[in-house]
Amino acid sequence: PSATIGVTGLAVMGRNLARNLARNGHTVALHNRTHARTESLVAEHGDEGTFVPSERLEDFVASIEQPRAIIVMVKAGAPTDAVIDELVPLLDEGDIIVDCGNAHYADTRRREQQLSDKGIHFVGCGVSGGEEGALNGPSIMPGGSRHAWDRLGPIFRSIAAEVDGEPCCVHVGPDGAGHFVKMVHNGIEYADMQLIAEAYDLLREGLGATPAEIADIFRTWNEGDLESFLIEITAVVLAQEDADTGTPFVDVVVDQAEQKGTGRWTVQSALDLGVPITGIAEATFARALSSHAEQRGPARDAFGTETGELDASDRDEYIENVRLALYASKVVAYAQGFDQIKAGSVEYDWDVDPGAMAMIWRGGCIIRARFLDRIHDAYTDDPDLPSLLVAPYFADAVRNGLDAWRQVVSQASLAGIPVPAFASSLSYFDGLRRERLPAALIQGLRDNFGAHTYRRIDRDGMFHIEWAGDALQHDA
Ligand code: 6PG
Repeated sequence: PSATIGVTGLAVMGRNLARNLARNGHTVALHNRTHARTESLVAEHGDEGTFVPSERLEDFVASIEQPRAIIVMVKAGAPTDAVIDELVPLLDEGDIIVDCGNAHYADTRRREQQLSDKGIHFVGCGVSGGEEGALNGPSIMPGGSRHAWDRLGPIFRSIAAEVDGEPCCVHVGPDGAGHFVKMVHNGIEYADMQLIAEAYDLLREGLGATPAEIADIFRTWNEGDLESFLIEITAVVLAQEDADTGTPFVDVVVDQAEQKGTGRWTVQSALDLGVPITGIAEATFARALSSHAEQRGPARDAFGTETGELDASDRDEYIENVRLALYASKVVAYAQGFDQIKAGSVEYDWDVDPGAMAMIWRGGCIIRARFLDRIHDAYTDDPDLPSLLVAPYFADAVRNGLDAWRQVVSQASLAGIPVPAFASSLSYFDGLRRERLPAALIQGLRDNFGAHTYRRIDRDGMFHIEWAGDALQHDA
Protein backbone atom coordinates (compact mmCIF):
# COMPACT_ATOMS: atom_id res chain seq x y z
CA PRO A 1 0.00 0.00 0.00
CA SER A 2 1.31 3.42 -0.89
CA ALA A 3 -1.49 5.95 -0.48
CA THR A 4 -1.64 8.08 2.67
CA ILE A 5 -5.35 8.66 2.29
CA GLY A 6 -8.21 7.59 0.03
CA VAL A 7 -11.20 9.40 -1.41
CA THR A 8 -14.31 7.59 -2.62
CA GLY A 9 -17.04 9.62 -4.30
CA LEU A 10 -15.48 11.81 -6.96
CA ALA A 11 -18.24 14.26 -7.83
CA VAL A 12 -17.04 17.83 -7.76
CA MET A 13 -16.42 18.13 -3.99
CA GLY A 14 -14.64 14.77 -3.70
CA ARG A 15 -12.67 15.43 -6.85
CA ASN A 16 -11.48 18.81 -5.62
CA LEU A 17 -10.59 17.50 -2.16
CA ALA A 18 -8.57 14.71 -3.78
CA ARG A 19 -6.73 17.23 -5.98
CA ASN A 20 -6.06 19.48 -3.01
CA LEU A 21 -4.60 16.52 -1.09
CA ALA A 22 -2.42 15.52 -4.03
CA ARG A 23 -1.22 19.06 -4.62
CA ASN A 24 -0.09 19.14 -1.02
CA GLY A 25 2.10 16.10 -1.43
CA HIS A 26 -0.20 13.32 -0.20
CA THR A 27 -0.51 10.16 -2.24
CA VAL A 28 -4.24 9.81 -2.80
CA ALA A 29 -6.11 6.58 -3.48
CA LEU A 30 -9.13 7.18 -5.71
CA HIS A 31 -12.39 5.35 -6.15
CA ASN A 32 -15.76 6.12 -7.64
CA ARG A 33 -18.77 3.90 -8.28
CA THR A 34 -18.61 4.82 -11.96
CA HIS A 35 -14.96 4.26 -12.82
CA ALA A 36 -15.01 6.67 -15.77
CA ARG A 37 -15.06 9.50 -13.28
CA THR A 38 -11.88 8.25 -11.62
CA GLU A 39 -10.23 7.91 -15.02
CA SER A 40 -11.18 11.42 -16.07
CA LEU A 41 -9.77 12.86 -12.84
CA VAL A 42 -6.45 11.12 -13.43
CA ALA A 43 -6.45 12.06 -17.12
CA GLU A 44 -7.15 15.72 -16.48
CA HIS A 45 -5.23 16.32 -13.26
CA GLY A 46 -2.86 13.39 -12.89
CA ASP A 47 0.10 15.75 -13.11
CA GLU A 48 -0.92 17.66 -9.97
CA GLY A 49 0.39 14.95 -7.64
CA THR A 50 0.33 11.23 -7.02
CA PHE A 51 -2.95 9.37 -7.45
CA VAL A 52 -3.58 5.65 -7.03
CA PRO A 53 -6.81 4.91 -8.89
CA SER A 54 -8.72 1.66 -8.37
CA GLU A 55 -11.80 0.38 -10.10
CA ARG A 56 -12.71 -2.12 -7.37
CA LEU A 57 -13.37 -1.02 -3.81
CA GLU A 58 -11.22 -3.91 -2.51
CA ASP A 59 -8.19 -2.67 -4.44
CA PHE A 60 -8.85 0.89 -3.35
CA VAL A 61 -8.86 -0.15 0.33
CA ALA A 62 -5.77 -2.29 -0.12
CA SER A 63 -3.86 0.63 -1.62
CA ILE A 64 -4.04 2.72 1.57
CA GLU A 65 -1.51 2.66 4.43
CA GLN A 66 -2.76 1.37 7.79
CA PRO A 67 -4.43 2.56 9.87
CA ARG A 68 -6.35 3.55 6.76
CA ALA A 69 -7.96 6.94 6.35
CA ILE A 70 -10.79 6.96 3.83
CA ILE A 71 -12.78 10.05 2.91
CA VAL A 72 -16.34 9.39 1.80
CA MET A 73 -17.77 12.21 -0.26
CA VAL A 74 -21.23 11.12 -1.36
CA LYS A 75 -24.77 12.41 -0.83
CA ALA A 76 -25.91 12.65 2.78
CA GLY A 77 -28.34 10.02 4.03
CA ALA A 78 -28.84 6.57 2.49
CA PRO A 79 -26.00 6.85 -0.06
CA THR A 80 -23.53 7.45 2.80
CA ASP A 81 -24.81 4.41 4.71
CA ALA A 82 -24.55 2.32 1.54
CA VAL A 83 -20.88 3.20 1.02
CA ILE A 84 -20.08 2.58 4.70
CA ASP A 85 -21.74 -0.83 4.52
CA GLU A 86 -19.60 -1.77 1.54
CA LEU A 87 -16.41 -0.49 3.12
CA VAL A 88 -16.68 -1.99 6.58
CA PRO A 89 -16.06 -5.66 5.70
CA LEU A 90 -12.86 -4.59 3.95
CA LEU A 91 -11.43 -2.64 6.88
CA ASP A 92 -9.33 -3.51 9.91
CA GLU A 93 -9.46 -2.35 13.48
CA GLY A 94 -8.18 1.19 13.87
CA ASP A 95 -9.09 2.21 10.31
CA ILE A 96 -10.86 5.52 9.87
CA ILE A 97 -13.82 6.48 7.70
CA VAL A 98 -14.28 10.21 7.23
CA ASP A 99 -17.63 11.53 6.04
CA CYS A 100 -16.97 14.96 4.55
CA GLY A 101 -20.54 15.46 3.31
CA ASN A 102 -23.18 17.63 4.95
CA ALA A 103 -24.51 14.83 7.15
CA HIS A 104 -26.91 15.36 10.02
CA TYR A 105 -24.96 15.14 13.26
CA ALA A 106 -27.47 12.63 14.67
CA ASP A 107 -26.66 10.28 11.77
CA THR A 108 -22.99 10.85 12.47
CA ARG A 109 -23.46 9.95 16.14
CA ARG A 110 -25.31 6.78 15.15
CA ARG A 111 -22.66 5.77 12.63
CA GLU A 112 -19.83 6.53 15.02
CA GLN A 113 -21.44 4.36 17.68
CA GLN A 114 -22.11 1.46 15.33
CA LEU A 115 -18.61 1.48 13.86
CA SER A 116 -16.81 1.95 17.14
CA ASP A 117 -18.34 -1.35 18.25
CA LYS A 118 -16.36 -2.86 15.36
CA GLY A 119 -13.16 -1.00 16.25
CA ILE A 120 -13.51 1.33 13.27
CA HIS A 121 -13.24 5.07 13.79
CA PHE A 122 -15.90 7.15 12.11
CA VAL A 123 -15.27 10.86 11.67
CA GLY A 124 -18.04 13.24 10.72
CA CYS A 125 -16.22 16.15 9.18
CA GLY A 126 -17.70 19.48 8.15
CA VAL A 127 -16.10 20.97 5.07
CA SER A 128 -17.02 24.45 4.00
CA GLY A 129 -16.02 26.60 1.11
CA GLY A 130 -17.86 25.09 -1.80
CA GLU A 131 -16.04 23.73 -4.83
CA GLU A 132 -13.43 26.42 -4.82
CA GLY A 133 -12.64 25.94 -1.14
CA ALA A 134 -12.35 22.17 -1.50
CA LEU A 135 -9.71 22.70 -4.15
CA ASN A 136 -7.75 25.61 -2.76
CA GLY A 137 -8.29 25.43 0.98
CA PRO A 138 -11.55 24.87 2.83
CA SER A 139 -12.43 25.31 6.46
CA ILE A 140 -12.42 21.83 7.93
CA MET A 141 -14.39 20.79 11.04
CA PRO A 142 -13.63 17.19 12.00
CA GLY A 143 -15.30 15.40 14.88
CA GLY A 144 -14.48 11.85 15.99
CA SER A 145 -11.89 10.21 18.20
CA ARG A 146 -8.44 11.37 19.26
CA HIS A 147 -6.92 8.41 17.44
CA ALA A 148 -8.59 9.58 14.24
CA TRP A 149 -7.48 13.16 14.79
CA ASP A 150 -3.87 12.08 15.35
CA ARG A 151 -3.89 10.38 11.96
CA LEU A 152 -5.94 12.99 10.07
CA GLY A 153 -4.96 16.26 11.74
CA PRO A 154 -1.65 16.85 9.97
CA ILE A 155 -3.17 15.92 6.60
CA PHE A 156 -6.25 18.11 7.01
CA ARG A 157 -4.28 21.03 8.37
CA SER A 158 -2.02 20.84 5.31
CA ILE A 159 -4.93 21.27 2.89
CA ALA A 160 -7.09 23.73 4.87
CA ALA A 161 -7.28 27.45 4.26
CA GLU A 162 -4.78 29.49 6.25
CA VAL A 163 -5.23 32.82 7.99
CA ASP A 164 -2.23 34.49 9.62
CA GLY A 165 -0.33 31.23 9.18
CA GLU A 166 -2.96 29.27 11.13
CA PRO A 167 -4.73 26.43 9.29
CA CYS A 168 -8.53 26.65 9.45
CA CYS A 169 -8.90 23.20 10.96
CA VAL A 170 -8.96 21.96 14.55
CA HIS A 171 -10.40 18.87 16.21
CA VAL A 172 -13.91 20.06 17.07
CA GLY A 173 -14.79 17.29 19.52
CA PRO A 174 -15.98 13.67 19.74
CA ASP A 175 -18.49 11.90 17.48
CA GLY A 176 -20.98 14.32 15.90
CA ALA A 177 -19.35 17.57 17.08
CA GLY A 178 -17.85 18.38 13.68
CA HIS A 179 -21.06 17.96 11.75
CA PHE A 180 -23.01 19.81 14.42
CA VAL A 181 -20.71 22.81 14.16
CA LYS A 182 -20.87 22.67 10.36
CA MET A 183 -24.66 22.61 10.60
CA VAL A 184 -24.70 25.72 12.77
CA HIS A 185 -22.21 27.33 10.38
CA ASN A 186 -24.76 26.79 7.62
CA GLY A 187 -27.54 28.18 9.80
CA ILE A 188 -25.47 31.31 10.32
CA GLU A 189 -24.84 31.35 6.57
CA TYR A 190 -28.63 31.43 6.04
CA ALA A 191 -29.02 34.33 8.50
CA ASP A 192 -26.13 36.26 6.95
CA MET A 193 -27.61 35.86 3.48
CA GLN A 194 -31.12 36.85 4.57
CA LEU A 195 -29.78 39.97 6.30
CA ILE A 196 -27.85 40.89 3.18
CA ALA A 197 -30.97 40.34 1.09
CA GLU A 198 -33.05 42.58 3.37
CA ALA A 199 -30.40 45.30 3.22
CA TYR A 200 -30.38 45.09 -0.58
CA ASP A 201 -34.18 45.33 -0.68
CA LEU A 202 -34.17 48.42 1.54
CA LEU A 203 -31.45 50.08 -0.51
CA ARG A 204 -33.21 49.37 -3.74
CA GLU A 205 -36.61 50.45 -2.50
CA GLY A 206 -35.39 53.48 -0.55
CA LEU A 207 -32.86 54.85 -2.99
CA GLY A 208 -34.45 53.68 -6.21
CA ALA A 209 -30.92 52.57 -7.03
CA THR A 210 -30.02 50.01 -9.68
CA PRO A 211 -28.49 46.68 -8.66
CA ALA A 212 -25.19 47.87 -10.13
CA GLU A 213 -25.28 50.97 -7.94
CA ILE A 214 -26.09 48.84 -4.92
CA ALA A 215 -23.16 46.62 -5.84
CA ASP A 216 -20.96 49.68 -5.35
CA ILE A 217 -22.41 50.22 -1.88
CA PHE A 218 -21.65 46.63 -0.91
CA ARG A 219 -18.15 47.02 -2.30
CA THR A 220 -17.65 49.98 0.01
CA TRP A 221 -19.15 48.11 2.94
CA ASN A 222 -16.68 45.33 2.31
CA GLU A 223 -13.91 47.71 3.31
CA GLY A 224 -15.27 48.15 6.85
CA ASP A 225 -16.64 46.10 9.77
CA LEU A 226 -18.78 44.03 7.42
CA GLU A 227 -15.82 42.78 5.40
CA SER A 228 -16.66 39.20 4.47
CA PHE A 229 -16.89 36.77 1.61
CA LEU A 230 -20.69 37.02 1.43
CA ILE A 231 -20.64 40.83 1.21
CA GLU A 232 -17.93 40.58 -1.46
CA ILE A 233 -19.91 38.16 -3.64
CA THR A 234 -23.10 40.18 -3.11
CA ALA A 235 -21.39 42.99 -5.01
CA VAL A 236 -20.42 40.52 -7.73
CA VAL A 237 -23.92 39.07 -8.09
CA LEU A 238 -25.61 42.49 -8.07
CA ALA A 239 -23.23 43.82 -10.71
CA GLN A 240 -23.89 40.85 -12.99
CA GLU A 241 -25.88 41.47 -16.18
CA ASP A 242 -28.02 38.84 -17.79
CA ALA A 243 -26.38 37.86 -21.07
CA ASP A 244 -29.69 37.29 -22.90
CA THR A 245 -31.57 40.42 -21.93
CA GLY A 246 -28.93 42.88 -20.81
CA THR A 247 -30.95 43.53 -17.65
CA PRO A 248 -29.60 43.01 -14.13
CA PHE A 249 -29.13 39.31 -13.52
CA VAL A 250 -30.88 39.54 -10.15
CA ASP A 251 -34.04 40.70 -11.94
CA VAL A 252 -34.30 37.62 -14.13
CA VAL A 253 -33.91 35.14 -11.26
CA VAL A 254 -37.13 33.61 -9.86
CA ASP A 255 -37.53 35.04 -6.37
CA GLN A 256 -37.93 31.72 -4.59
CA ALA A 257 -34.99 30.68 -2.42
CA GLU A 258 -34.23 27.00 -2.21
CA GLN A 259 -32.46 24.99 0.45
CA LYS A 260 -30.89 21.61 0.82
CA GLY A 261 -31.78 21.29 4.47
CA THR A 262 -28.93 22.30 6.76
CA GLY A 263 -30.68 25.52 7.80
CA ARG A 264 -33.80 23.55 8.64
CA TRP A 265 -31.73 21.08 10.69
CA THR A 266 -30.20 23.95 12.61
CA VAL A 267 -33.61 25.30 13.55
CA GLN A 268 -34.94 21.84 14.45
CA SER A 269 -31.96 21.24 16.71
CA ALA A 270 -32.32 24.67 18.31
CA LEU A 271 -35.93 23.90 19.16
CA ASP A 272 -34.83 20.69 20.86
CA LEU A 273 -32.06 22.45 22.74
CA GLY A 274 -34.28 25.40 23.65
CA VAL A 275 -31.94 27.96 22.10
CA PRO A 276 -33.71 30.97 20.56
CA ILE A 277 -31.88 31.28 17.25
CA THR A 278 -34.52 33.64 15.94
CA GLY A 279 -32.38 35.16 13.18
CA ILE A 280 -31.52 31.78 11.67
CA ALA A 281 -35.12 30.62 12.04
CA GLU A 282 -36.51 33.74 10.32
CA ALA A 283 -33.97 33.33 7.55
CA THR A 284 -35.02 29.72 7.02
CA PHE A 285 -38.71 30.61 7.08
CA ALA A 286 -38.15 33.57 4.75
CA ARG A 287 -36.82 31.10 2.17
CA ALA A 288 -39.89 28.93 2.73
CA LEU A 289 -42.24 31.91 2.38
CA SER A 290 -40.59 32.94 -0.87
CA SER A 291 -41.20 29.52 -2.37
CA HIS A 292 -44.95 29.46 -1.66
CA ALA A 293 -46.03 30.94 -4.97
CA GLU A 294 -49.51 29.46 -4.52
CA GLN A 295 -50.05 31.73 -1.50
CA ARG A 296 -48.12 34.76 -2.69
CA GLY A 297 -50.35 35.22 -5.75
CA PRO A 298 -53.65 35.24 -3.85
CA ALA A 299 -52.15 37.48 -1.14
CA ARG A 300 -51.07 39.99 -3.79
CA ASP A 301 -54.55 39.87 -5.29
CA ALA A 302 -56.23 40.34 -1.93
CA PHE A 303 -54.06 43.11 -0.54
CA GLY A 304 -52.25 44.72 -3.44
CA THR A 305 -48.50 45.18 -3.66
CA GLU A 306 -48.19 48.85 -2.81
CA THR A 307 -45.46 49.90 -0.43
CA GLY A 308 -45.06 53.20 1.38
CA GLU A 309 -42.22 55.68 1.11
CA LEU A 310 -38.91 55.12 2.84
CA ASP A 311 -37.30 58.38 3.85
CA ALA A 312 -33.95 58.39 2.10
CA SER A 313 -33.78 62.17 1.66
CA ASP A 314 -30.32 62.08 3.18
CA ARG A 315 -28.87 59.38 0.96
CA ASP A 316 -25.64 58.84 2.88
CA GLU A 317 -27.39 58.69 6.20
CA TYR A 318 -29.93 56.22 4.86
CA ILE A 319 -27.21 53.94 3.54
CA GLU A 320 -25.30 54.18 6.81
CA ASN A 321 -28.44 53.33 8.81
CA VAL A 322 -29.02 50.22 6.74
CA ARG A 323 -25.38 49.25 7.22
CA LEU A 324 -25.57 49.68 10.96
CA ALA A 325 -28.83 47.72 11.15
CA LEU A 326 -27.26 44.95 9.12
CA TYR A 327 -24.22 44.84 11.36
CA ALA A 328 -26.21 44.80 14.60
CA SER A 329 -28.51 42.07 13.27
CA LYS A 330 -25.49 40.10 12.18
CA VAL A 331 -24.03 40.27 15.66
CA VAL A 332 -27.31 38.86 16.99
CA ALA A 333 -27.28 36.03 14.45
CA TYR A 334 -23.75 35.03 15.42
CA ALA A 335 -24.48 35.38 19.13
CA GLN A 336 -27.39 32.99 18.68
CA GLY A 337 -25.38 30.55 16.59
CA PHE A 338 -22.62 30.44 19.19
CA ASP A 339 -25.23 29.91 21.91
CA GLN A 340 -26.39 26.88 19.99
CA ILE A 341 -22.86 25.52 19.66
CA LYS A 342 -22.40 25.89 23.40
CA ALA A 343 -25.76 24.24 24.13
CA GLY A 344 -25.00 21.32 21.79
CA SER A 345 -21.60 20.91 23.35
CA VAL A 346 -23.12 20.69 26.84
CA GLU A 347 -25.93 18.37 25.73
CA TYR A 348 -23.57 15.88 24.10
CA ASP A 349 -20.51 16.45 26.27
CA TRP A 350 -18.32 17.57 23.39
CA ASP A 351 -16.30 20.28 25.08
CA VAL A 352 -16.28 22.42 21.93
CA ASP A 353 -14.16 25.56 22.18
CA PRO A 354 -16.32 28.33 20.65
CA GLY A 355 -13.35 30.67 20.19
CA ALA A 356 -11.55 27.99 18.17
CA MET A 357 -14.60 27.65 15.93
CA ALA A 358 -14.45 31.37 15.20
CA MET A 359 -10.76 30.93 14.34
CA ILE A 360 -11.33 28.14 11.82
CA TRP A 361 -14.16 30.08 10.19
CA ARG A 362 -11.90 33.01 9.41
CA GLY A 363 -10.80 31.45 6.14
CA GLY A 364 -12.03 28.98 3.55
CA CYS A 365 -15.67 28.86 4.55
CA ILE A 366 -18.73 30.65 3.24
CA ILE A 367 -19.13 32.85 6.33
CA ARG A 368 -15.47 33.86 6.48
CA ALA A 369 -15.29 37.40 7.77
CA ARG A 370 -13.08 39.86 9.47
CA PHE A 371 -15.23 40.04 12.58
CA LEU A 372 -14.67 36.37 13.45
CA ASP A 373 -11.37 37.53 14.94
CA ARG A 374 -13.41 39.61 17.37
CA ILE A 375 -15.52 36.59 18.30
CA HIS A 376 -12.37 34.63 18.99
CA ASP A 377 -11.03 37.47 21.14
CA ALA A 378 -14.31 37.69 23.05
CA TYR A 379 -14.16 34.00 24.03
CA THR A 380 -10.46 34.24 24.84
CA ASP A 381 -11.14 37.11 27.21
CA ASP A 382 -14.06 35.30 28.80
CA PRO A 383 -14.58 31.61 28.03
CA ASP A 384 -17.83 31.72 30.03
CA LEU A 385 -19.27 34.64 28.13
CA PRO A 386 -23.05 34.46 28.67
CA SER A 387 -23.73 35.92 25.21
CA LEU A 388 -21.54 37.38 22.48
CA LEU A 389 -23.82 40.41 22.62
CA VAL A 390 -22.41 41.47 25.98
CA ALA A 391 -18.74 41.11 25.05
CA PRO A 392 -17.39 44.68 25.16
CA TYR A 393 -16.60 44.98 21.47
CA PHE A 394 -20.00 43.66 20.33
CA ALA A 395 -21.92 45.51 23.01
CA ASP A 396 -20.35 48.73 21.69
CA ALA A 397 -21.20 47.82 18.12
CA VAL A 398 -24.83 47.20 19.04
CA ARG A 399 -25.11 50.38 21.16
CA ASN A 400 -23.58 52.34 18.34
CA GLY A 401 -26.02 50.97 15.77
CA LEU A 402 -29.13 50.90 17.91
CA ASP A 403 -30.82 54.11 16.77
CA ALA A 404 -30.21 53.27 13.15
CA TRP A 405 -31.47 49.74 13.69
CA ARG A 406 -34.72 51.01 15.20
CA GLN A 407 -35.10 53.59 12.42
CA VAL A 408 -34.65 51.01 9.71
CA VAL A 409 -36.99 48.43 11.25
CA SER A 410 -39.73 50.93 12.04
CA GLN A 411 -39.52 52.65 8.64
CA ALA A 412 -39.66 49.31 6.88
CA SER A 413 -42.70 48.27 8.92
CA LEU A 414 -44.50 51.52 8.17
CA ALA A 415 -43.73 51.20 4.49
CA GLY A 416 -44.82 47.56 4.36
CA ILE A 417 -41.46 46.10 3.44
CA PRO A 418 -40.67 42.78 5.08
CA VAL A 419 -37.52 42.68 7.18
CA PRO A 420 -38.03 39.48 9.17
CA ALA A 421 -34.40 38.97 10.13
CA PHE A 422 -33.68 42.63 10.97
CA ALA A 423 -36.89 42.91 13.01
CA SER A 424 -36.66 39.62 14.86
CA SER A 425 -33.03 40.31 15.77
CA LEU A 426 -34.02 43.66 17.21
CA SER A 427 -36.86 42.07 19.19
CA TYR A 428 -34.47 39.43 20.46
CA PHE A 429 -32.13 42.15 21.67
CA ASP A 430 -34.94 44.05 23.35
CA GLY A 431 -36.28 40.82 24.83
CA LEU A 432 -32.96 39.97 26.41
CA ARG A 433 -32.56 43.36 28.05
CA ARG A 434 -36.17 43.80 29.21
CA GLU A 435 -36.66 44.36 32.94
CA ARG A 436 -39.83 42.24 33.16
CA LEU A 437 -41.09 40.11 30.31
CA PRO A 438 -44.76 39.31 29.77
CA ALA A 439 -43.70 35.69 30.21
CA ALA A 440 -45.10 36.18 33.72
CA LEU A 441 -48.58 36.39 32.21
CA ILE A 442 -48.00 33.24 30.21
CA GLN A 443 -47.12 31.44 33.43
CA GLY A 444 -50.33 32.77 34.96
CA LEU A 445 -52.40 31.53 32.04
CA ARG A 446 -50.78 28.12 32.23
CA ASP A 447 -51.53 27.90 35.90
CA ASN A 448 -55.12 28.96 35.27
CA PHE A 449 -56.05 26.54 32.54
CA GLY A 450 -53.82 23.62 33.36
CA ALA A 451 -52.60 23.94 36.95
CA HIS A 452 -49.08 24.02 35.50
CA THR A 453 -47.81 25.99 38.55
CA TYR A 454 -45.61 29.08 38.62
CA ARG A 455 -42.57 30.36 40.51
CA ARG A 456 -42.66 33.55 42.58
CA ILE A 457 -40.22 36.45 42.64
CA ASP A 458 -40.25 36.58 46.46
CA ARG A 459 -40.13 32.91 47.56
CA ASP A 460 -38.64 29.64 46.35
CA GLY A 461 -40.83 26.75 45.27
CA MET A 462 -43.66 25.98 42.90
CA PHE A 463 -47.07 27.54 43.46
CA HIS A 464 -50.60 27.08 42.22
CA ILE A 465 -53.67 29.25 42.70
CA GLU A 466 -57.08 27.73 43.33
CA TRP A 467 -58.75 29.50 40.40
CA ALA A 468 -62.52 29.85 40.24
CA GLY A 469 -62.47 27.43 37.29
CA ASP A 470 -60.86 24.76 39.48
CA ALA A 471 -63.89 24.84 41.76
CA LEU A 472 -66.23 24.57 38.77
CA GLN A 473 -64.35 21.54 37.55
CA HIS A 474 -64.63 19.90 40.95
CA ASP A 475 -68.38 20.57 40.99
CA ALA A 476 -68.94 19.08 37.58
C1 6PG B 1 -20.43 25.50 2.57
C2 6PG B 1 -21.86 25.60 2.16
C3 6PG B 1 -22.30 24.33 1.50
C4 6PG B 1 -23.53 24.48 0.67
C5 6PG B 1 -24.75 24.80 1.46
C6 6PG B 1 -25.85 25.38 0.62
O1 6PG B 1 -20.21 25.70 3.76
O2 6PG B 1 -19.58 25.27 1.74
O3 6PG B 1 -22.65 25.82 3.28
O4 6PG B 1 -22.40 23.35 2.50
O5 6PG B 1 -23.33 25.44 -0.31
O6 6PG B 1 -25.18 23.59 2.02
O7 6PG B 1 -27.01 25.16 1.31
P1 6PG B 1 -28.45 25.41 0.75
O8 6PG B 1 -28.57 24.70 -0.55
O9 6PG B 1 -29.31 24.82 1.82
O10 6PG B 1 -28.59 26.88 0.61
